Amino acid sequence: MRVMVTGGAGYVGSVSVERLVAAGHDVLVLDDLSTGHGGSVPAGVRLVRASFGDPDDVARAMAEHGTEAVLHCAAKSLVGESVTNPAKYYRANVVGGVMLLEAMRRRGVRRLVFSSTAAVYGTPEMTPITEDAPLRPINPYGETKRAFEAALAWYGAAYGLRSVCLRYFNVAGASEMHGEVHAPETHLIPNVLLAAAGGPALNLFGDDYPTPDGTCIRDYIHVEDLADAHLLALEATALDDARTDSQLICNLGNGGGFSVREVLEAAERVVGREIPHSIGPRRVGDPPVLVASAGRAGTVLGWQPTRPGIEEMIGSAWAWRGRHPAGYGE
Ligand SMILES: NC(=O)c1ccc[n+]([C@@H]2O[C@H](COP(=O)([O-])OP(=O)(O)OC[C@H]3O[C@@H](n4cnc5c(N)ncnc54)[C@H](O)[C@@H]3O)[C@@H](O)[C@H]2O)c1
Repeated sequence: MRVMVTGGAGYVGSVSVERLVAAGHDVLVLDDLSTGHGGSVPAGVRLVRASFGDPDDVARAMAEHGTEAVLHCAAKSLVGESVTNPAKYYRANVVGGVMLLEAMRRRGVRRLVFSSTAAVYGTPEMTPITEDAPLRPINPYGETKRAFEAALAWYGAAYGLRSVCLRYFNVAGASEMHGEVHAPETHLIPNVLLAAAGGPALNLFGDDYPTPDGTCIRDYIHVEDLADAHLLALEATALDDARTDSQLICNLGNGGGFSVREVLEAAERVVGREIPHSIGPRRVGDPPVLVASAGRAGTVLGWQPTRPGIEEMIGSAWAWRGRHPAGYGE
């Protein structure tokens, strides 16, 4: 299959590009390198440096590549920034997203897999969270992802677009070739490892939550398991596949969770020493527990996480860091 991966130079996208290439697909990366890294794109894979929000550039790239399906990983995805600068998020994730769909319509490309997020649920009433839970995002990041999911549904009904929305919980770990390099880094595991490597001490946001050890519980998924899910989801968008006759939405998580303290302790076992940390106040808008019900991805896509252990996720990230101390060297 000829697959365009938007955001293929980013963390999630780069591991998926690696997986798609290994599975024999012809991959084109479309990325503006705003948070991604040109050095993460493997030799032999073409990188088009452009915005997915520019329909002329996207349509041209699709025509040259003969794109049959799109894996749409690119987005603005910093929760805090989305609160202070919602315009940036609406412009990129919603307006840009619709421009991508227009380019696809122009080229007759009708297959798309979308990197959505647990942030569409906001603070859940029940956990584990099923896909039918109410969507009540509590920040513009989640809201813009919800809006684009809705656009995909309407484009499906009117224009025959076949889409799968994958709502990831927390992505972690690394492959042999690709790992997580963000600036600023807001994710727990890379920040724990940064503290382990001599960076700033880790700040735990609150230890008085109603959880067994008082710290928040989150669901983590290994980035390579996510890449496997992308492959299965892309297959499900085939024009004769009944699973995407209407939009398919699946949570991706382990169906279990780890507390912040459990993550810290697992990281200490991985690196073999104590990791400097302090306990700070709670962060606004952090629910105590966010755990996915990932049954639908199993039954409908045939997906199962094969690397569910937190030590394996942290260990792969730590090993990648060791092999790439300067990240992608930019
Ligand atoms: N990492 C997580 O834990 C997590 C969790 C839930 C959802 N997600 C979603 O997964 C996707 C990937 O996340 P990530 O952690 O890999 O982020 P990332 O920032 O590492 O990657 C995003 C990529 O998109 C590119 N990009 C951004 N805007 C663009 C534009 N207008 N045109 C072209 N390229 C553009 C960036 O340069 C970057 O390479 C995002 O959509 C994010 O919302 C991630």
